[in-house]
Amino acid sequence: MMTPSDVKATLSFSDGSASMELPIYKGTVGPDVIDIRKLYGQTGKFTYDPGFLSTASCNSTITYIDGDKGELLYRGYPIEQLAEQCDYLDTCYLLLYGDLPNADERGTFHKRVLNHTMVNEQMQFFLRGFRRDAHPMAVMTGLVGALSAFYHDSTDINNPEHREIAAIRLIAKMPTLVAMSYKYGIGQPYMYPRNDLSYAGNFLRMMFATPCEDYKVNPVIERALDRIFILHADHEQNASTSTVRLCGSSGTNPFAAIAAGVACLWGPAHGGANEACLNMLEDIQKMGGVAKVGEFMEQVKDKNSGVRLMGFGHRVYKNYDPRAKLMRETCHEVLNELGLHDDPLFKLAMALEKIALEDDYFVARKLYPNVDFYSGIVQRAIGIPVQLFTAIFALARTVGWIAQLNEMIADPEYKIGRPRQLFVGAATRNVKPLAER
Ligand code: CMC
Repeated sequence: MMTPSDVKATLSFSDGSASMELPIYKGTVGPDVIDIRKLYGQTGKFTYDPGFLSTASCNSTITYIDGDKGELLYRGYPIEQLAEQCDYLDTCYLLLYGDLPNADERGTFHKRVLNHTMVNEQMQFFLRGFRRDAHPMAVMTGLVGALSAFYHDSTDINNPEHREIAAIRLIAKMPTLVAMSYKYGIGQPYMYPRNDLSYAGNFLRMMFATPCEDYKVNPVIERALDRIFILHADHEQNASTSTVRLCGSSGTNPFAAIAAGVACLWGPAHGGANEACLNMLEDIQKMGGVAKVGEFMEQVKDKNSGVRLMGFGHRVYKNYDPRAKLMRETCHEVLNELGLHDDPLFKLAMALEKIALEDDYFVARKLYPNVDFYSGIVQRAIGIPVQLFTAIFALARTVGWIAQLNEMIADPEYKIGRPRQLFVGAATRNVKPLAER
């Protein structure tokens, strides 16, 4: 809840125009906000904050990050406890409805989601329109957007029942769609979901079974994948979530708004970083591996090279990303289980991390490993192709997008998102006849 603070901010101008008092609100934790909603009306001025470095775009009860402490809470629960004691569907319930389910609620919710895993049979014909070598995120952007064409009965964003069923459908069908886009790419038949398996187990089977040979779910890998899903489930007002909110604020249907989130997530500065990070590790490995780490780091530190250490740095975390710590642990577990503890990419990642954590360049800028630094190694060990990493991130983040979208729509104060601008282009001018231009 936004609580008015006793303190007020005063905005004054050096040209003698009247100063303005601005209210301040307090959240439960985290920085206070200065309420500038009346600023334009009273002063005729906008604020300027490209990249939203200092701007809270909404108030929210879902996820809290303390970037300095390296803390991530979903509805108040530390990510470490959720990763240890809950599964992904419990986390989905928590994000959507505000608290962890009791035993009955858990059973009902799990059953409900797992009953919606199948997609309209027509969807496979839609997929056929894509090239086999299309990037899975290109396919996913199309497939998720297309859901609104298949599920007409849940497209009214202003109807709470439609929002609820769209939420369940999206969470349930994302693994099916990601697995279908993978199977299509490698030319194998699609595997229908099996609802007696867990959410992660079902996804693994849809990915790796064929009609000729079933896939036996390994519990260590199932748990690791489930943990990847939990760690990616939400991350407050990041670029893709803000995209979903902005897109949904026009009243468009939930499937279209989530498709916008998928498109945004694809970028290498956001969800595409896990793919970019693994490609980077493979490139260094080809250059000569651990022996070349020093040389690579020199390139990273050279501003003219355009090279970044992918999987490092974060807009909010100025400390070790708590998700990266958990992912590192999972990485050990999976590599041990699969007998890959000598995996050269993992060794390389640890060597890079060690150097970066001691190097002045990274220390001074507070650049630490983020979740993507180790998640790629885990996924690769499981057998997931690098190109699919961001689609898996999208699968997991879908619940966060929906929870945030539903929170916005249910807020009586919500308005269409419409940023302002500082216009620095040409002022009014007249079109000259063609011969004079
Ligand atoms: N490698 C080298 N230098 C870096 C890196 C990096 N990965 N990240 C930031 N810097 C430097 C940057 O050059 C700048 O230096 P200076 O102050 O001398 O100009 C300083 O650190 C601040 O960087 P910034 O780009 O202004 O910071 P930002 O908050 O705008 O960017 C970021 C955050 C995540 C886009 C950036 O750290 C980055 O590009 N990281 C690599 C990509 C990546 O791993 N992204 C995944 C983010 S976590 C998953 C998710 O939430 O999607």
